[in-house]
Amino acid sequence: MSHSVVHEANNCEKRPTPEEFFKRQPEPGFIKSIDEYHEMYKKSIEDPEEFWAPLAKDLISWDKPFEQVTSGDLKTGNVGWFLNGELNACYNCVDRWAFSTPDKPAIICENDDEAQSHVLTYKELLYEVCKVSQILDDWGVKKGDTVAIYMPMNSQAIIAMLAVARIGAIHSVIFAGFSSGSIKDRVNNASCKALITCDEGKRGGKTINIKKLCDDALDNCPTVEKVLVYKRTGNPEIFMKEGRDYFWDEEAKNFSGYIPPVSVNSEDPLFLLYTSGSTGTPKGVVHTTAGYLLGAAMTTKYIFDIHAQDILFTAGDVGWITGHTYALYGPLSLGVTSVVFEGTPAYPDYGRLWAIVEKHAVTHFYIAPTALRLLRKAGEDQIDKYNLSSLRTLGSVGEPISPDIWEWFNERIGKDQCHIADTYWQTESGSHFIAPIAGVIPNKPGSASLPFFGIDTCLIDPVSGKEIEGNDVEGVLAIKSTWPSMARSVWKNHTKYMDTYLNPYPGYYFTGDGAARDNDGYYWIRGRVDDVVNVSGHRLSTAEIEAVLIEFHNVSESAVVGISDDLTGQAIVAYVALKETEGVNIEDLRKTLILQVRKEIGPFAAPKSIIIVPDLPKTRSGKIMRRILRKISSYEADQLGDITTLANPQSVEGIIECFSQQFVAKK
Ligand code: PRX
Repeated sequence: MSHSVVHEANNCEKRPTPEEFFKRQPEPGFIKSIDEYHEMYKKSIEDPEEFWAPLAKDLISWDKPFEQVTSGDLKTGNVGWFLNGELNACYNCVDRWAFSTPDKPAIICENDDEAQSHVLTYKELLYEVCKVSQILDDWGVKKGDTVAIYMPMNSQAIIAMLAVARIGAIHSVIFAGFSSGSIKDRVNNASCKALITCDEGKRGGKTINIKKLCDDALDNCPTVEKVLVYKRTGNPEIFMKEGRDYFWDEEAKNFSGYIPPVSVNSEDPLFLLYTSGSTGTPKGVVHTTAGYLLGAAMTTKYIFDIHAQDILFTAGDVGWITGHTYALYGPLSLGVTSVVFEGTPAYPDYGRLWAIVEKHAVTHFYIAPTALRLLRKAGEDQIDKYNLSSLRTLGSVGEPISPDIWEWFNERIGKDQCHIADTYWQTESGSHFIAPIAGVIPNKPGSASLPFFGIDTCLIDPVSGKEIEGNDVEGVLAIKSTWPSMARSVWKNHTKYMDTYLNPYPGYYFTGDGAARDNDGYYWIRGRVDDVVNVSGHRLSTAEIEAVLIEFHNVSESAVVGISDDLTGQAIVAYVALKETEGVNIEDLRKTLILQVRKEIGPFAAPKSIIIVPDLPKTRSGKIMRRILRKISSYEADQLGDITTLANPQSVEGIIECFSQQFVAKK
């Protein structure tokens, strides 16, 4: 990336939060002005101890007060926050509200089939969580043990997570779109002692064989002793292995009452969440208890402007970090109501999300641009059927939101009366990095704006490794400070943590994203600079997909690249070279390879197009030049630059030809 000047359009006018936003606030906002934000931000960077200590005392309930605010740094990677404090995340999210506001809804669960939707008050949530905690406790699951959760997005998934946290164990939620191969890898990497799942899932009117996928994985998961199965559909045909599998409702019959939360150290892990990186194996990102919880609570409160009576609807899945932080830990740690949605935006029709907003008078709605693109394309006429006037803050997450989708969100959903928060962050950050604080930071459509408290953002020149000063510049985005909710490690592989995040630019946390900083200091996220692609807001590793393709006996080499796509943001194109072409039916082969990816990783990772090529472009040291493939796939073959340094420059012509013949831009 060069020091090119930021695109003209980015240096546009700032747009303040609309007046109507303030009229809809139940009470004045927490930050009064942009000057106050700047002052608080400055203090958070210059004096983190003084800044965070009172907030941690205010927002978290401690079993034992912490003795030191922070320790360690980005050079050594031995980061700690709120040292020697003790707390329980579940107590913070459930018990204290069950005592103070027992009848307030904690979770409003909108099921795929609306008739099955239900509400859990804080008191009921405590009861349900304790039941599962007791089962796990009876099974001998202890503080520090890992428990996998493979559940669709519903109230039982939240109950399961909280139940694990309550007994001081570590949850590892596996997105319910992952295949059995991916479940197996994640369960084994984390040596999970138990698994919590359900019989079947319901999504978009379809039934998903959740338990079957687990069974296939569990054949090769020696550490899993017990499996707890929630009867979501109650299908009597479900296979249950004796001595291993137990039904949730039957086990809960023995429930004897309240199960006390187990105090853990601030730095004890709360959860693992596997995410894709540049290498083939997914990383178990480790989040610890106190810092993560504070980051979740702080950002939910300040960025979204959440007050006690607000209703937050995070339309993300609990299998990803968005569901962890903004469907569970953020809202519940503040004692507010979280709407959880099991289904899809398209079922029973494209009005479902808006129906949910109207039904529950949702004040805060948080979603990925990919869903907005779909809704704009397919569901425009559904919007006006519903009253959306309860909305105050609209959030966007997971991928860049283009200015035209931003405007659409603002006008069609927000009716020009809401604050729009484009929130930039990652699994590893735990909570928002950069986002416009509602009612405080004016917007520029397409920019995530300014960093949150404690996030010392900077841009680095990837060639010199030096920081780029000033405004109107581009580089790779890095963070200069540690922050409370930062991931502390990669499970069982701290070296990988160091090599991925902290060693690329010593003294900095490397985000993996490129960004620009405009004349106003606003950040514009440009996308990943590593081998990670973002398809419909799902973060995928090209190396992981390549590893699956290469498993096929007739594939000699493969290279996967991301191309831009109108609907899914990015889409995957896989280039494949074969060992033997004689007698091969190319169409069948393509189908087989796509099926293999769906089976090994999950349907969301399937390539949009597979291009069979005679050879892949390589450097003299044998490295595949994905840059060239990216250009060819983006119809920029005339801008390949110097290819004479390749070991096989003659391969390029053939690849261009294969691409033009084989690329199918299927929608
Ligand atoms: O590339 C950035 C993109 O998503 C990546 C993080 O993905 P994941 O860990 O799955 O977390 C997604 C939910 C936070 C980032 O490195 N990304 C996330 N939010 C934005 C974004 N890109 C641009 N704008 C955003 N608001």
